[in-house]
Amino acid sequence: MSKTFQRYTITAALPYANGPVHIGHLAGVYIPADIYARYQRLRGRDLVFVCGSDEHGVPVTIRAQKEGMSVQEVVDKYHQLIKNSFEQFGISFDIYSRTSSPLHHEVAAAFFKKLYDEGKLIEKVTEQFYDPEAGQFLADRYIQGTCPKCGYENAYGDQCERCGSTLSPEELLNPRSMLSGAQPVKKATKHWYLPLNEYENWLRQWILEEHRHDWKTNVYGQCKSWIDAGLQPRAVTRDLDWGVKVPVEGAEGKVLYVWFDAPIGYISATMEYFRQKGEADKWKDYWQKEDTRLIHFIGKDNIVFHCIIFPVMLKAHGGYILPDNVPANEFLNLENEKISTSRNWAVWLHEYLEDFPGKQDVLRYVLTANAPETKDNNFTWKDFQEKNNSELVANIGNLVNRVFVLTHKFFEGKVPAASQPTGDDQVLIDAIRQYPEKIAQAVEQFHFREGLQELMNFARVANKYLTDQEPWKLFKTNPERTATVLHYCLQMIGNWAILAQPFLPFTAQKLLQALAMEGDCSWEQAGNPQLLAEGTPVQKIGHLFEKIEDEVIQKQIEKLKSMSQSNQDIAQGNSYKDTIQYEDFAKLDIRIGTIREAEKLPKSKKLLKLSVDMGNGEVRTILSGIAEHFSAEEVVGKQVCVLANLAPRKMMGVESQGMVLMAEDKDGRLVFVSPEAVVQAGAVVS
Ligand code: 2FM
Ligand code: ZN
Repeated sequence: MSKTFQRYTITAALPYANGPVHIGHLAGVYIPADIYARYQRLRGRDLVFVCGSDEHGVPVTIRAQKEGMSVQEVVDKYHQLIKNSFEQFGISFDIYSRTSSPLHHEVAAAFFKKLYDEGKLIEKVTEQFYDPEAGQFLADRYIQGTCPKCGYENAYGDQCERCGSTLSPEELLNPRSMLSGAQPVKKATKHWYLPLNEYENWLRQWILEEHRHDWKTNVYGQCKSWIDAGLQPRAVTRDLDWGVKVPVEGAEGKVLYVWFDAPIGYISATMEYFRQKGEADKWKDYWQKEDTRLIHFIGKDNIVFHCIIFPVMLKAHGGYILPDNVPANEFLNLENEKISTSRNWAVWLHEYLEDFPGKQDVLRYVLTANAPETKDNNFTWKDFQEKNNSELVANIGNLVNRVFVLTHKFFEGKVPAASQPTGDDQVLIDAIRQYPEKIAQAVEQFHFREGLQELMNFARVANKYLTDQEPWKLFKTNPERTATVLHYCLQMIGNWAILAQPFLPFTAQKLLQALAMEGDCSWEQAGNPQLLAEGTPVQKIGHLFEKIEDEVIQKQIEKLKSMSQSNQDIAQGNSYKDTIQYEDFAKLDIRIGTIREAEKLPKSKKLLKLSVDMGNGEVRTILSGIAEHFSAEEVVGKQVCVLANLAPRKMMGVESQGMVLMAEDKDGRLVFVSPEAVVQAGAVVS
C-alpha cells in the first residue's frame, strides 16, 4: 500500500437469501473479513464493515418455487437465519442490511438512471427465450433440458450440474420451461447493456499495471484472462418481476440484473448505517473520498463481478472510489468433496451452533487455520477434532489453565510481583514484544492463516517456558522465583488475549474479563511485558477449551452422510442413474453361470473365491464380496448372473475374471439374481 489512507470501507459478499450459510462461506469470506475488520478497529482505524442479504435474482425465485412459498417469504426466512448465524459467530458487521429494502431500491435505481441519462448504456433488442404458456421470459436457470456434453436430462440453461459444463440455453437438447414445462420460443425484447469493451484500456491500466503486485495472484490471473479474452457489452437488465424495477419508460416488467444491483447494496447499506446513526451524509466519506481504502472480501466465483463489472459501473457513474484490494479466496471442500447445497453436502452454521453450543471459536480457529487462501482447501471432522484437542486444548487452553490455577494456589489469585528477570524470562519478554508486529504484518497482507499460526507460536513459547521453569515444583524452595515466572506468564496471557481478539473474539473476551483488562484492549497496548499491574485479580475461568471425543465426531460424519444421502434420494425420486442408450447396454455381456466350488479367501472378511462354470468347459475364478452373507458351502450349485466381459482385476493376489450380480434388500442383505428355472451354463442374459 503506497497511498496513505484515512479510513476503510470493508465489504463482505452479500449472500443470496436462498438458503442458510455453511462453513465454506465462513472460511472463504466472512471470517477473513471479520479478522481484518476487528484488527483494523483495534488499531484505531476509522472504518465501516458492511454486508447484507442479496435478495434478488433467479436463485431466490427458484428457491421460492421449490419451497412452495412466495419470494418475499423465502427472503424473509433466510435473511433472518443468515443474520442470526453471522451474529452468533461474532462476525462484527456494522450493518447487515438487505437488498429488498426501499432505500436500496431507490439507490440502485438512481445509479442506473444516471448511467442511462448520460448515455453510458447501450440499448439493444435481442431474441430471448420465452415461455408461451406462462407468458414470461425465461432466465437461463429457468430452462432445463438434456446436456449436449454428458446427456444429463436435467441440465440448466446456464450449467450442467452433472458434468459441470457451462452451457447456454441454445445448446440444450429438448429444452423445456421450468415454469410450465412448455418448449421455450424466441421472442424479441429490449435490454440495456454496460459496454465493458469501452473500458478495456482503462482496466488494463488500473488492474494489470497498477495492481500487478498488490492483488493476489489468483485474483490478478482471473482478471487478466477475462480482459485478454476480450470484453463484451453486458446486459444489466432482465425480464423478471422480482428485483429493482428499471426506472425508465418502456421498461415495464423489467428489473435490474441482480449482479448490477447487489454490489450497489454495499453503498446503500453504508447509507443506511449512517442514517441510523443520525449522520445521513457521512456515507460519502466512505465511498467518495480518495483517501478511503475500499476492500472487498469475496469468494473466487465473484472475482469478475468485483474486479471488472462493478468497477466499470463505478467508473461510468463517476464520483466513487474503486476497490484498492479484492483478497478473494478459493473454495473449501468438505471431507474431500466439493461442498454442495443441492446434495446437502455441507456443514450449516445454524446446525453447528445447535450441535456445538459455545464453540464458535473452535470453528473460527479451524476454518482460519485451513483457510483456502491460495488454493482450494479441505475441512474434515477428524481434523477439526485434532485441531481442537491438540492445538486449542493442549496449547493455549493448557497454558491458561496451569497459570491461573497456580496463581490461585500460591498467590491468592493475584498477579504476583516479579524480581529481576533471568535470561529465560527474557526469552518470554522478547516474545511479548515481538509477536504483535509479526501478527500485524500477516494480517495487513491478508495472510490470516499465518497470523493465526504466529498467535499459536506465541502461546507455544510460553508453554515451553512454563514447562521448563516448573513453578509448581519451585514454590517450596523458591517462592520469589515462582512469583516471577507466573508474573511473566500472566503478562503473556494478557498480551495474547489482545492479539487473539480478531481471530478468537469469544475466547479473547473471556480472558480480558478474567484479567480485568476490558478497557485496555487496543492493539497498541500489546507488546508490553508490564501490561498487568502487580496485585491485579485473576478470575478463575475453568477450561478455555474442552476436549472433543471420538463419538461426537463420528456422529457428525454420520449425519453428513445420511443427510446427503436422504436428500439425494428425495431429489432423484428413487435415484435412477442417468439414462443410457441401447448401445451402452449392449456392451454388457451378462451370462448365467453355475457355481461349482467356493472357498473363503484367507485374510479377507468379505471375499469368497468362486469357481463358476460358464459353459463350453470354461470355468472362471470370480471373487465376490459376499462372505459376510453366505458361507462357501451354501453357494455351491447356485446359478447366478455374471458380468462376463468386465476387465479382469487382481484382488489380494487373485485375479477375478468377472462379477456376480447381486441385489440388496431393504435391510442390506444380499441375494443372488438367479434364473427362474435352471438353464445351461453360459446362457446369455439380454
Ligand atoms: O455469489 C453470491 O452469493 C452473490 N450473492 C454475491 C453478491 S456480492 C455483491 F455484489 F453483493
Ligand atoms: Zn453435462
